[in-house]
Amino acid sequence: MEVRSCGVRRMCTLTLLLVSACPLCCRSSWMWLGVTSAGAAEQLGCANLPLSPRQRDLCRRKPFLLPSVQDGARLAVAECQSQFRHERWNCSTAEQPPVFGHELSSGTKETAFIYAVMAAGLVHAVTRSCSQGNMTECGCDARLRGGGSAAEGWHWGGCSDHIQYGTWFSRKFIDGAATNASTVRGGFTPNTINQHNSEAGRQAIDRTMSTDCRCHGVSGSCAVKTCWRTMAAFERVGSYLKERYERSVQVSDRSRRKTRRKEQRRLPVDKHQLIFFNKSPNYCLEDRRRGIAGTRGRRCNRTSAGPDGCNLLCCGRGYNTHVVRHVQRCECKFVWCCYVRCRRCESMNDMHTCK
Ligand SMILES: *[C@@H]1O[C@H](CO)[C@@H](O)[C@H](O)[C@H]1NC(C)=O
Ligand SMILES: *[C@@H]1O[C@H](CO)[C@@H](O)[C@H](O)[C@H]1NC(C)=O
Ligand SMILES: *[C@@H]1O[C@H](CO)[C@@H](O)[C@H](O)[C@H]1NC(C)=O
Ligand SMILES: *[C@@H]1O[C@H](CO)[C@@H](O)[C@H](O)[C@H]1NC(C)=O
Repeated sequence: MEVRSCGVRRMCTLTLLLVSACPLCCRSSWMWLGVTSAGAAEQLGCANLPLSPRQRDLCRRKPFLLPSVQDGARLAVAECQSQFRHERWNCSTAEQPPVFGHELSSGTKETAFIYAVMAAGLVHAVTRSCSQGNMTECGCDARLRGGGSAAEGWHWGGCSDHIQYGTWFSRKFIDGAATNASTVRGGFTPNTINQHNSEAGRQAIDRTMSTDCRCHGVSGSCAVKTCWRTMAAFERVGSYLKERYERSVQVSDRSRRKTRRKEQRRLPVDKHQLIFFNKSPNYCLEDRRRGIAGTRGRRCNRTSAGPDGCNLLCCGRGYNTHVVRHVQRCECKFVWCCYVRCRRCESMNDMHTCK
């Protein structure tokens, strides 16, 4: 108890600090909920969280969604770090907003991924909570109930995830749902590009949904099937968005366009596409001014040809090799009754880190 209240007080002080430093990063400061301990959002309450005035208002009107907002943010941050764990940019976060540092405003495809995954995380967490019957404002998808095909031996049943409410909330909370970014005319601005990528993230939840069925009938004969629509696990959404990130498209910033008007091509942008303004740096060397950590000291894989391979990850600078002793439980045997007896096995492994 003692420890807990102390932790909360420290968080409050931190939050005060955050709020006073807020104006610059206000709209995305809620992402801080993704790096702070679970349950912190509820303990601090709407008034003490680093939210924009509009988000605070929404939070006050729908306080029951606060745990889901935090769940969604944590889910998204963890997924970003998992998807990028082998890359030079590894989605590292700071404990203060903007938690993604310079990357949140650099206008690169990394920025695009962050906005998409955070918006998707919110849809996922809110929808999950709807499906579990925790909310009065939403529930399972009732539109399907009663439907199906008797001839083909299946019908809708169980709880189909109803993503509309979560999608609505994610738009309202993150974008204010003011304009429809994918239909903005005449190009993107820093604001509408973030909205576009957030929307692409929400669309990813829709795109990765699937239908699950369960069989009924004598001894699993599957004479009758009950089916329901379900969201994909968030890892699947993460890898879908990672593919989108790899195929993301550069667009021009309308607010900075001055003289080269004729050169601008106005190719329509698909609402599922991730888009960015600026080419990414190579993330090789530390650059404090731009908040780039560099890859020195990162662990690499000497035999991998992928991004985690020493050659690519270390940008050709070479690597150091250390021998690490690894102690494991091994040759475990069950001893009657009732415990497991193991030996301790030691192995020496090479570990490589970038110079
Ligand atoms: C990312 O890499 C840096 C070193 O460049 C390391 O300090 C940090 O822990 C890594 N972050 C994650 C989330 O893996
Ligand atoms: C729904 O409520 C139950 C009981 O309060 C809780 O254990 C569970 O984590 C909640 N689920 C979600 C997704 O919020
Ligand atoms: C934005 O426009 C697209 C295409 O017209 C439409 O499919 C989508 O539902 C719209 N989104 C919102 C938030 O109105
Ligand atoms: C290194 O990469 C190789 C080839 O991709 C893989 O088989 C191996 O498991 C990796 N080693 C580690 C320690 O990740």
